[in-house]
Amino acid sequence: MAQLWGGRFTKETDQLVYNFNASISFDKKFYAQDIEGSMAHVKMLAKQGILTDEEKDQILDGLDNILKDVESGKLEISDKYEDIHSFVEANLIDRIGDVGKKLHTGRSRNDQVALDMKLYVRSEIVELDGLLKELLSTIYKIMEENISTIMPGFTHLQKAQPITLAHHFGAYFEMFKRDRDRIYDIYKRMNLCPLGSGALAGTTYPLDREYTSELLEFDAPTLNSMDSVSDRDYVIELLSASSTIMMHLSRFCEEIIIWNSNEYQFVEIDDTYSTGSSIMPQKKNPDIAELIRGKTGRVYGALMSILTTMKGIPLAYNKDMQEDKELTFDAIDTVKGCVKLFDGMIKTMQFKKDNMRKSANGGFTNATDAADYLVNKGVPFRDAHGIVGQLVLYCIEKNISLDEMTISEYKAISTVFEEDIYEAISMETCVNKRLTLGAPGEEIMREVLKTYRSYLAK
Ligand code: ARG
Repeated sequence: MAQLWGGRFTKETDQLVYNFNASISFDKKFYAQDIEGSMAHVKMLAKQGILTDEEKDQILDGLDNILKDVESGKLEISDKYEDIHSFVEANLIDRIGDVGKKLHTGRSRNDQVALDMKLYVRSEIVELDGLLKELLSTIYKIMEENISTIMPGFTHLQKAQPITLAHHFGAYFEMFKRDRDRIYDIYKRMNLCPLGSGALAGTTYPLDREYTSELLEFDAPTLNSMDSVSDRDYVIELLSASSTIMMHLSRFCEEIIIWNSNEYQFVEIDDTYSTGSSIMPQKKNPDIAELIRGKTGRVYGALMSILTTMKGIPLAYNKDMQEDKELTFDAIDTVKGCVKLFDGMIKTMQFKKDNMRKSANGGFTNATDAADYLVNKGVPFRDAHGIVGQLVLYCIEKNISLDEMTISEYKAISTVFEEDIYEAISMETCVNKRLTLGAPGEEIMREVLKTYRSYLAK
């Protein structure tokens, strides 16, 4: 047991209590952030005359060596320390002697851990953003290649109107674009430095909080020390944004699972992203898509967990807050892994365009266009709706599609129909006449893709 606070105690901590309390097994993930924060703190202490330049240099040197040794594997972060903060400080003192004991001047583990968590969240946001951008580039590429790949669009999982694969993927482009905006907002809001808040009430040393904030690339120091040490809003926000990312991935996975089914056969997931069955030799399962869908629950769970942990905490720091770490680490690693795997899966996935096209042809996806045809010939929409309803009924009885009806069969239901009906209800016409902004028509889709291209170039 190695603690920083033995002075006022007359008995050793019970071993079970020690283990229950310790956080080193997971907060060792923060070693780089912890050292970075300590370095900034020490530079500031010297600038303020609280440490001499010589002391500063000795401490910086010691910290730098600890970082290097951990990174090279020479120094193992062992569980005999209570937390990462104790580990770094104890190691520093081992290395440079008594001057190392000055590191913690004007600081508490409360503002220290608040800083570490912020530094961690900040760099995770940057990494996640990069992965999302990568995914958006993949989606963009698939869109560009499939501007005229016709497929059925669905409502209620019933065929509704023909769309294109580019249009369908474009919906997800919008979702992941919003996800990037969301995490960018979190970054902006959280980028205030808590260091210098002390345990809860600041400190009597003349710290220069602007200076440490600047050194650590924050926009400014925080303005209330009690809030600074007990704020985990940014963790909640990131887990909330992560939950939304997972929800988007999960919806997309659900669609891919359906498209990959024997009944649909719109796509084929690559062998490298599929798995087999131990008993049924014919099987090739979409396990990756299912797992991503499944892991969504785990990320939602992390969000619920931290929200619940935080709800009863009086100001300022309380130990409950140590519970923010494991679940956040797990959730963020899960989201990053899922985005990466999902990207790989759709990059290698094969689109069976003929099957999509065939599927769009059936199911009367052009019924709305047949009604619009009548409207253009002067029939009021409500009447046109009724006439096309009769056509559909007729086709269902004969087991044919609208374009397979002869012109005399059309005329038997309404004399308004002429030869140009076939052109009017062709899949190409149905799609390419839809030219409102955001619709699947090729011309407008090209405009939207142009916007996406310059978005990705930024
Ligand atoms: N391991 C603690 C945490 O994660 C660090 C802060 C400890 N502060 C304290 N007053 N015990 O929250």
